[in-house]
Amino acid sequence: MVELVVNGGSHTLEAPVGRSLAETLRDGLGLTGTKIGCNEGHCGACTVLVDGVPTLSCITLVHTVEGRNVTTIEGLRDHPLVDSFVRADALQCGFCTPGQIVSASALVEANPEPTREQIRHGMAGNLCRCGAYPKIEEAIATWQG
Ligand code: FES
Ligand code: FES
Repeated sequence: MVELVVNGGSHTLEAPVGRSLAETLRDGLGLTGTKIGCNEGHCGACTVLVDGVPTLSCITLVHTVEGRNVTTIEGLRDHPLVDSFVRADALQCGFCTPGQIVSASALVEANPEPTREQIRHGMAGNLCRCGAYPKIEEAIATWQG
């Protein structure tokens, strides 16, 4: 069993030793907004916040985050970044988008007016196979509307 705090709610669920946080969120809690791309810590699609810090949930064992605050894209549905991604048309297939928004939320929390260079640096761990980078950058640069 594992005790998880996700998007402000507490959950107790079965999780064998070795189960990743990403699998647990998706299969155990039905939070399928968190995507699994490479499943090896390279692409950023699975990014969630653990105590506010962007974390690759595919390579994080669920038992290591017991009792800590996990935030997924579902917990950020009212974040202004969601609208700014839509306004900037910052996606094509959308597979990378939840991870992009989760990472961007931590970036703007720490630095509400990041420069383009700071955005590129802060978002370097989130890959987009569709190459939507210029529009993703635009969305983050204009997130406050
Ligand atoms: S799915 Fe986790 S980094 Fe790619
Ligand atoms: S929008 Fe398709 S991978 Fe980024």
